[in-house]
Amino acid sequence: MRRLHRALRPYHFHLRLLAALVLVCIVSTIAAYSFHYASSRTQLSSTPQTYVRGTSYDGISSRIADERVGSLHYTIEYPTTGTARIDQTVSSYIDQMKRAFSDDFTDPTLTGSRGEFNATYLIRSATQEYISITAQISMSYPMTPLITETQYWTFDRRSGDTIHLADIFGDKSSDGVARTVLYVRQQLRKQASARQEKIGDELLDQIVTADTLTDFLVRDAHTLEFDFDRNTLASSRVQPFVVTIPIDRLQLFMQNDIARKLFDITVVSSARTTTQPVSGPCASRKCIALTFDDGPGPHTTELLDVLKSRGVRASFFDIGSNVRRYPALVKRQADEGHTVGNHTYNHPSLTLVSDDAITREITSTNDAIQAITGRKPRYLRPPNGAINAHVATLVGAQGMTSVLWSVDTRDWAGRNVDIIYNRIIAGARPGSIIILHDIHRTSVETVARSVDKLRTQGYEFVTLDDMLPGAQPGKIYSHL
Ligand code: NI
Repeated sequence: MRRLHRALRPYHFHLRLLAALVLVCIVSTIAAYSFHYASSRTQLSSTPQTYVRGTSYDGISSRIADERVGSLHYTIEYPTTGTARIDQTVSSYIDQMKRAFSDDFTDPTLTGSRGEFNATYLIRSATQEYISITAQISMSYPMTPLITETQYWTFDRRSGDTIHLADIFGDKSSDGVARTVLYVRQQLRKQASARQEKIGDELLDQIVTADTLTDFLVRDAHTLEFDFDRNTLASSRVQPFVVTIPIDRLQLFMQNDIARKLFDITVVSSARTTTQPVSGPCASRKCIALTFDDGPGPHTTELLDVLKSRGVRASFFDIGSNVRRYPALVKRQADEGHTVGNHTYNHPSLTLVSDDAITREITSTNDAIQAITGRKPRYLRPPNGAINAHVATLVGAQGMTSVLWSVDTRDWAGRNVDIIYNRIIAGARPGSIIILHDIHRTSVETVARSVDKLRTQGYEFVTLDDMLPGAQPGKIYSHL
């Protein structure tokens, strides 16, 4: 204060006024504080003040509790959604965090210190069918930066059940969750590198797995969201990571009622339900269609040899640029009775490019194939399985049918012959369409063994032309 006096001598008069003001402030603060301290001593817990506030979502309001216990102050906004089980799940999470917070202050070094606990929630999206909700908690401790925690859920609004990620994939849950894990990891790596950070693979292996990625948010009818708060990925990170995934890349796995309640799902048809009755050889026999994407490539010759030696006919979804590089292999595919399909020219996700680009990708590949085989392809497999109703319509405008798959070998992920073989055998059903990639040696190596095994189970191998003789342009099929 003395040094301040000297420095500010020209303003002496003002300073005196200032000093008086400061004194008043200090005295009143001390008085308030000691009063607060005394009252908190005598009355350990005050009755929480609660009041109710509406939200912009129909039928949802907030119950706000303001409570002081000793030196701790809690401000909590609980949701009242009209479904008791939802309110309970969110409240019990908040209350559990609240107990942990108050327990921390029983530590001798913190006893009597001031602490603030704030909890609130955010409705991310809601309809009559579901609610996606985030609980956000911030906790302030003495001498420590603010600590925040978030938790999120998507609830069935009628039953109050939590809808888990696996639920939206129904009987495709392991495939759907595996894809989601892959996309979330890709996104996190991309976002981190955009921030000049790096998320190590070991950390991703801990944080983003089929076991940890159990909850999700519905951002909108076309988008899944996952939030990673700043504590999850590393304590030093300032900004939370928000990962959104367009369902265009997942809806093959979302052909069920739960997913349809939450998202605008494009219908993937079964030929059995759309064209009655099923014609062709598969009407009465156990058919399987093996399909090979992304070629032709260096391993395609070996694959064609294996198929020929076993009298197996399959389908190839060739990439236009590879067709130009390996025309002789495309010719051989056609000559040996395989179906030659279109997998676009440059392999973009068609849901992310313009209508013109989609049409160009399709027609340039058709032209390249037709110049070699003399036949225009009837089927398109969208790269990365990315498709929606709009893309399917543009495919239909070319007179073509989109074909996905029902057995995902995920041979692009783990290049392990035994795992791929097991997925083929475990997934095979009459009418299955199995996806493999003839650009991977391991995939090609799996074929002979898989064919031999499935034949002992009475399966026959057919082309898509055989399996889907009534395929309709503009539709999307994933199996017979
Ligand atoms: Ni592909």
